[in-house]
Amino acid sequence: MKADLPLVISITSGKGGVGKTNLAVNLACCLAREQKNVVLLDADLGLANVDVVLGLTPKRNLFHLFHEGAQLSDVIMDTPYGFKILPASSGVSEMLSLTAGQKIVLLEAMDELEDAVDFLIVDTGAGINENVMYFNLAAQERLIILTPEPTSLTDAYALIKVMQQNHDVHDFRVLVNLVSEEKSAKEVFRRLYKACDHFLTGISLDYVGMIPRDAGVRKAVIHQKPFCIQDPDGPASQALAGVAKTIQTWDVPNTLDGNIKFFWKRLLFRQ
Ligand SMILES: Nc1ncnc2c1ncn2[C@@H]1O[C@H](COP(=O)(O)OP(=O)(O)O)[C@@H](O)[C@H]1O
Ligand SMILES: [Mg+2]
Repeated sequence: MKADLPLVISITSGKGGVGKTNLAVNLACCLAREQKNVVLLDADLGLANVDVVLGLTPKRNLFHLFHEGAQLSDVIMDTPYGFKILPASSGVSEMLSLTAGQKIVLLEAMDELEDAVDFLIVDTGAGINENVMYFNLAAQERLIILTPEPTSLTDAYALIKVMQQNHDVHDFRVLVNLVSEEKSAKEVFRRLYKACDHFLTGISLDYVGMIPRDAGVRKAVIHQKPFCIQDPDGPASQALAGVAKTIQTWDVPNTLDGNIKFFWKRLLFRQ
């Protein structure tokens, strides 16, 4: 079923190394396997993320779109797994300082994606720096990746607090990674939930599921393939397939702000 409008989901965390890139790539892969049109926006600046996990080297990124007159079709890259990658790379900080005219050119380019995409998945960097905030703010759904490490919890809490206090965002989804079983995942989620409930008001946290720690994930990284392709029957792949099913049940807001152009508009013309 093709959603009428695309859904923009940011994959984010307070702390680095929690599995954002691996989960974003594999989620894109699972959704593509279910005949969805998926674009993965690699917005983690400075780290060659998707390249490392997939062994692909994008020749161009967003920077070329507005500085060298490249077309969106020159920048967007096919993968062998049915989804496409839009590499942002160093282009993002540049993008935020574009002139109004350049921003409109970029917006118009993004219009091309509108009808062709069911899901735009944004792999953000870690932390609460401005770039990460803008992507989280512009996305319709924010999927926080949490792990049992105490710093993952405190950093996720900090991210939620800043998003709420500075940007009036209250709704978050949570996926717990690197756990041994569902019980520990729910315990980790509960700790975050309690902290938010105790110190903040009006936050909505939705537990999406868990991805177990699985040696197959690292093996797949070594082979530079998505783990859901390299090891489709492994525990992480099976859990992620469940998450991909859940995500397809999320409502796509049937309003004007439910489109990709709006995502870029919010990103580029932020207050
Ligand atoms: N479920 C998992 N099981 C085992 N290893 C994992 C799992 N998720 C992530 N990893 C490993 O953790 C490391 C960090 O993952 P990565 O996706 O790069 O995190 P981030 O993008 O949040 O910095 C990688 O080496 C990856 O292979
Ligand atoms: Mg990453």
